[in-house]
Amino acid sequence: MWTEEKLDQLLTTPSDALVEDMKKIKGDIMVLGAGGKMGPTLCLLAKNAIEKAGIEKRVIAVSRFSDPIATELLHKNNVETISCDLLDTEKLRQLPEVENVIYMAGRKFGTDGSEWQTWAMNATLPAFVAEKFQKSNIVVFSSGNIYPIVPIHTAGCLESDKTGPVGEYTMSCLARERAFEYAANHYGTKIFMYRLNYAVDLRYGVLYDMADRIMKGEPISLTTPCLNCIWQGSANEMAIRGLLHASAPAKIMNVTGPETVSIKKAATLLGEFLGKEPIFEGEPSNDAYLSDASEAMEVFGYPAVPVRTLIRWQAEWVLAGGRALGKPTHFEERKGSY
Ligand SMILES: NC(=O)c1ccc[n+]([C@@H]2O[C@H](COP(=O)([O-])OP(=O)(O)OC[C@H]3O[C@@H](n4cnc5c(N)ncnc54)[C@H](OP(=O)(O)O)[C@@H]3O)[C@@H](O)[C@H]2O)c1
Repeated sequence: MWTEEKLDQLLTTPSDALVEDMKKIKGDIMVLGAGGKMGPTLCLLAKNAIEKAGIEKRVIAVSRFSDPIATELLHKNNVETISCDLLDTEKLRQLPEVENVIYMAGRKFGTDGSEWQTWAMNATLPAFVAEKFQKSNIVVFSSGNIYPIVPIHTAGCLESDKTGPVGEYTMSCLARERAFEYAANHYGTKIFMYRLNYAVDLRYGVLYDMADRIMKGEPISLTTPCLNCIWQGSANEMAIRGLLHASAPAKIMNVTGPETVSIKKAATLLGEFLGKEPIFEGEPSNDAYLSDASEAMEVFGYPAVPVRTLIRWQAEWVLAGGRALGKPTHFEERKGSY
């Protein structure tokens, strides 16, 4: 039977590989933008890995903490927090120096109409953060959507492929990367550019979105025919372990699952588990946002949970009345409008 405690426990139990890598990471870890969908479980995962490794190290979660439930998980587990609006440059400057930073802060939804806010968060702020933490190793959360939509036969973009952001949100994500790349080249800051395609944690994500539509009898668009996604526990592990791969010039890595997930097949399987047939709309196109994460598989190993298991878990979560964050991914968006 699924409970929120069980899900959080699964997401925050470190693998042996993470525990071993944690022993090699020197100094404390600060997580900027820790109050969102991934940050609370990432911070707790890091704390649990430190405990299991039998070492001393601080994990400091920094955010505005506007979501009280996210904060509760951190406080309940004695994760150190600093409440800070990073756009307040005075407060940013006053943050303690640390050897390791995981940068997760960002803005996506609500971009249309207030583009300037998204650019401030995703493009201006990274320049300030990179300057402040120029002596740290920094894992920079970025998005696989900075690549262009590619033909399905390519099986996705490699890190060496040319970026081609569509729309202001993804353009601002590329600007974020460039600001940190500048720090890598100018100050010698060690950077690990973490290009993520869809984390799945059951309370939100591409599978949740499909399951939700099936339950509501709403159509699922096939225009975007397939995608990549990854169990959030593994995505968070790769982010923490990425600290050991930060370098100057920046190391870039795609992070997602090994499967190219067909929307139609995934929704059909979800429908079988949910006992409700999905409704589809639109003609499948021959291209999609796809990332080739084979380098991440080689460096970190395969994710702990295969997508077929995630699909079953997702259906069980919804049938058990599991909580939803109410933050749809808009995975079907192809014009970069958020
Ligand atoms: N989740 C995914 O599947 C996915 C996929 C691709 C890329 N990404 C990227 O990966 C990063 C982490 O993902 P996520 O899903 O956890 O993102 P998220 O839910 O948007 O979390 C980021 C958090 O940053 C904090 N933040 C925003 N503005 C801030 C400010 N001015 N000062 C301090 N904190 C601020 C917010 O928390 P507070 O309200 O507490 O400040 C926000 O919830 C994001 O940059 C996201 O764009 C995520």
